[in-house]
Amino acid sequence: MIITIDGPAGAGKSTVGRELSRRLGFRFFESGSVYRALALAVKEKKIDPADREAVCGLIPGLDFFCSRPEFYLPETGELASRLSAIPEVRKDLLAIQRSLADTGNLIAEGRDMGSVVFPGAEHKFFLDASLPTRTRRRQEELAGKGKRLKPEEVEAEISTRDARDRSRKTSPLVVPEGAIVIDTTGLGIAEVVETMLRHIDKR
Ligand code: DC
Repeated sequence: MIITIDGPAGAGKSTVGRELSRRLGFRFFESGSVYRALALAVKEKKIDPADREAVCGLIPGLDFFCSRPEFYLPETGELASRLSAIPEVRKDLLAIQRSLADTGNLIAEGRDMGSVVFPGAEHKFFLDASLPTRTRRRQEELAGKGKRLKPEEVEAEISTRDARDRSRKTSPLVVPEGAIVIDTTGLGIAEVVETMLRHIDKR
């Protein structure tokens, strides 16, 4: 079974997805880490992000399923968002992401999980929250990782990324057809997870 969770930055996808995967015993995939891994490689190899061929040339040799502390830096997210708007990058990363479904039950979170990567998923969710809430969550998450930023810096970062992720031509952030939309503003992790479990049980 595949469950997808899409939504903008700070909507709670990772936190909720991780807890849901623990409750159901499913594997959890954070698709943003794939774009963040590519962004770090581009930075470290000093590749011009506008050089599509060179960027795509990195993909075959990358380990996409590791996690590094630098993944969570705002500048990595920003570059990941810029690279994710390149159609060739998305095309090359599609098969890598889909191969995860071969290993059984999966919860996949990101921007295009229910719309493009796993359109046939049994359950689709779209999480959203107000900008102040998403800013506060993101700020707390970064502080937990030792990165202290002002609210206005975090708000600017996520607003810029969201606008780009929503407006790009290839696989923009959209509410996938058939997805259940949950506004997580004012809701705790447990409440969101319980709401999702109720929807899953109902079907
Ligand atoms: O979820 P995240 O913040 O780690 O994602 C970082 C960037 O990667 C996000 O701004 C856009 C891109 N991304 C994407 O285009 N499609 C996905 N499924 C996941 C992330």
